[in-house]
Amino acid sequence: MSDLVAVILAAGKGTRMRSKMPKVLHKVGGKAMLQHVIDAATAAGAEKKVVIVGHEAELVETMVADQGKIALQAEQLGTGHAVMQTKEVLKDFHGTAMILCGDTPLLEGEELAKFYAEHKTSGAAATVLTAMMDNPFGYGRIIRDAAGNVQGIVEEKDATAEQKLIKEINTGIYCIECPLLFDVLATLTCDNAQGEYYLTDVLSKLNAAGQKVGGVVTADSDMVMGINSRQQLAVAESVMRQRVLAKLMDAGVTIMDPASTFIEASVKIGADTIIYPYTWLEGSTEIGEDCEIGPNARFTNVKIGNACHLQFIYGHDCRVCDAVTAGPYVHLRPDTVLSNRVKIGNFVEVKNSNVGEGTKLPHLLYIGDSDIGSGVNMGCGCITVNYDGKKKYRTVIEDDAFVGCNTNLVAPVTVRKGSYIGAGSTITKEVPENALGIGRAKQINIEGWAEKQRQK
Ligand code: UD1
Ligand code: CA
Repeated sequence: MSDLVAVILAAGKGTRMRSKMPKVLHKVGGKAMLQHVIDAATAAGAEKKVVIVGHEAELVETMVADQGKIALQAEQLGTGHAVMQTKEVLKDFHGTAMILCGDTPLLEGEELAKFYAEHKTSGAAATVLTAMMDNPFGYGRIIRDAAGNVQGIVEEKDATAEQKLIKEINTGIYCIECPLLFDVLATLTCDNAQGEYYLTDVLSKLNAAGQKVGGVVTADSDMVMGINSRQQLAVAESVMRQRVLAKLMDAGVTIMDPASTFIEASVKIGADTIIYPYTWLEGSTEIGEDCEIGPNARFTNVKIGNACHLQFIYGHDCRVCDAVTAGPYVHLRPDTVLSNRVKIGNFVEVKNSNVGEGTKLPHLLYIGDSDIGSGVNMGCGCITVNYDGKKKYRTVIEDDAFVGCNTNLVAPVTVRKGSYIGAGSTITKEVPENALGIGRAKQINIEGWAEKQRQK
């Protein structure tokens, strides 16, 4: 849609966050607030975007990358001044500027699309999105005439006692026609309580010039919540979380206890999977159908197949195929692949390893930099000795091998197909196919030793 451009204000410092980081880069649901706004604009059909940056401009620009053009507001002289900085970028633009703030992470594309459609059909020069608030403190108030037309917006700090009683507030979201917007911006002054160039004054000026100015009330005031402090950030996080969980439940996922379940919007989960309490699912994590996840599971960027049972486990940047069971107390580290029907028991760590179909790693193991075939059984306490202090080496264990308890596999080393390793071995050489490998000191018994010891 070429006649719509999103203009996103993100130059402010966000003083009340008390943060080294610019406010709009703080995350809600694992994603920067500004990114939420950019995504909502895209979903509303605003392919073109201009982001106004100022405080820590480089950091914000880096996040925006190729998602939009950048306009620099070197000094933060108010919201009107901020939009003036887009004049150069939008000098040939004829159409609607949808003006948004970078600190409203709960905004959704559908709502914006509806707002834009209403602006278009009304034929107004400008339309403001408003909300009814029981406690309107701090927001600009909407001033309407007897016929209900928007006459202007009065900031809290400039409002009379009577105006402060108005409960309809300015969300800071507008659709304004260009190039008219820039003609009016050029006439703004800063003779107000804050000594700033108010974007809100554009509406009263348009109204005074006989242009039509509309106001659309949003049904969901949560959605337009602006985040100024860490406390408000926590409120937004909780609203976002409930939203994500509600969508998953509607799609057939059982969430046993939403209050103790943390799932980012980016995560995908198949139907009939059950999520037990104290579960964190993050990033590009995908879980198939019919799984039981948790209690106490955390997965970051993990692809999980169908019918897996995974409890008391942390996995990151790895892959789990179908019908795998793992836990309790398992750590799956990056570049690990667990094939179908792998069984992992308690106190097991697997790193940068491929584990073949149906292989069992039941208790107390460290598996690092390994390629383990299918049908392998690793006894309790086995360890791959993969690191000599300088380099890492691989361990290869072929199909159907049986590794006895408490074996050290000193890499690089290969255990061939179908072989056995005696318990307590330290294996430093290849074990041939179908052989028995034993590498441990021979046992000696001293007859009567204990008896003599007791008589001393
Ligand atoms: C603004 C509105 C107010 C509205 C409220 C909604 C004005 C004058 N007031 O007030 O009517 O109810 O938003 O949340 O517009 N920014 C810049 N450059 C600046 C100043 C601000 O980029 O020079 C950015 C900020 O980073 C922020 C946004 O504009 O993302 C809003 O600024 P803020 O100072 O929070 O405005 P409010 O006082 O909340
Ligand atoms: Ca604000």
